[in-house]
Amino acid sequence: MKNIAIVGMQWGDEGKGKMTDYLAQKTDVVVRYQGGDNAGHTVVFDGKKIDLHLLPSGIIHKNVINIMAHGMVINLETLFKELRKFKSENLYISDRAHLILPFHRDIDTENDRIQKIGTTKKGIGPTYSDKILRKGVRMSSLQSMDRFIHDVNNLCSSKNISFDPEKYYKENFKNIKEIIPKITNTSFLLNKFVEENKRIIFEGAQGVMLDIDHGTYPYVTSSSPSVSGLPQAVGIAPWKINAALGIIKAYSTRVGEGPFPTEMGERLASKIREAANEYGTTTGRPRRIGYLDLVALKHASLSSGLTYIAFTICDVLNNIDVLKVCDYYTIEGKKINTYPSHIEDLKLVKPHYIEFPSFQKDITNVKKFDELPVELKNYLLYISKELKSEIAFVSVGPDRKQTIICNEI
Ligand code: GDP
Ligand code: IMO
Ligand code: MG
Repeated sequence: MKNIAIVGMQWGDEGKGKMTDYLAQKTDVVVRYQGGDNAGHTVVFDGKKIDLHLLPSGIIHKNVINIMAHGMVINLETLFKELRKFKSENLYISDRAHLILPFHRDIDTENDRIQKIGTTKKGIGPTYSDKILRKGVRMSSLQSMDRFIHDVNNLCSSKNISFDPEKYYKENFKNIKEIIPKITNTSFLLNKFVEENKRIIFEGAQGVMLDIDHGTYPYVTSSSPSVSGLPQAVGIAPWKINAALGIIKAYSTRVGEGPFPTEMGERLASKIREAANEYGTTTGRPRRIGYLDLVALKHASLSSGLTYIAFTICDVLNNIDVLKVCDYYTIEGKKINTYPSHIEDLKLVKPHYIEFPSFQKDITNVKKFDELPVELKNYLLYISKELKSEIAFVSVGPDRKQTIICNEI
């Protein structure tokens, strides 16, 4: 497969960063397609741990071309901070990506005080709102101070916000000057790379259950992490994407508010949280922990045309005595067959579980699927069969090396 979408199938933090970094070893181009610095992608190799919020996870690899596509929203402070850490000769930033300005973060914080979504307070929702309202400021505005001042003033006057764009531009000028040569029409570039038969990975942020359309609305983010949203976010035709690698954590987590039907009791949750260090990479918040939810996964796979699965954090399952999988929901005793759209229905669903025995072994050094405990194999094969997708990888630890290949893609 040449062009592969890496998509989180749950509520984010499935290990997309780890799998992108792993596949980037044999790839020419890595594209981050949506979201902003609400994302936190952790990559571990040679004893080093790297957290990325904005830059594609391919940035670690010297020969990989990295693209930040126009589906993204970009906080310049985070970008400049990350660019100080990594060499970026091969980085291109879309001229159509929208800028997160400091007041977007203030608005996000204020909005979340009233409507408690539990956002990352990074200004994501307000920036995407301005884009849809046709008032947003795009990366191309940075190419001239006069344009930037004009475009920001236009936005601020519509919102009655006082903000000094000239001061902001001048204060950040040294860094802005450095990124201007990287700002380009990345859709044009990407289509050229497709024609040149380059191998391309599309790195999603967040996950399908946080998708603005397909997720647990309104407890979602403001972009489309699903593969169905990807072509629009990067500007290529859908049929140029050859496969979707769904990243599925071997259990479920979510950060922030919102319904979570398979959430488990705090005693077991805290055991898993400590074993897997389930604290948000971006905000440090403890992640909520739940059993695997096949109803949500089947729903997520519809909008993402799942072809392969990478199961992650399987090593931590040895902390659970009985592995439970939710195979259907009921509302007031009645089985439902599609994922509820309304939040009030979601609050009412009762998960039905099937149980699998767990295993007690340390699997962090296992190199082959056949050598995994039979209990884990049965659990993973059941989920893969239900999702009608093959297992491509099983991840048994955070390090790049702790990755079992099941299917060479
Ligand atoms: P992302 O947002 O999808 O990239 O995921 P995050 O990086 O936010 O969260 C996943 C966390 O799990 C990170 O701390 C990873 O280093 C870690 N991780 C990834 N795969 C594995 C695994 O197989 N086992 C363990 N124990 N940790 C893993
Ligand atoms: P990665 O890419 C987990 C959650 C927030 C909140 C909701 C809306 O690391 O998987 P936002 O700031 O986007 O408006 O918040 O979405 N959220 C994430 N949860 N992983 C992420 O990214 C997330 N990005 C946003 O916690 O519930
Ligand atoms: Mg994350």
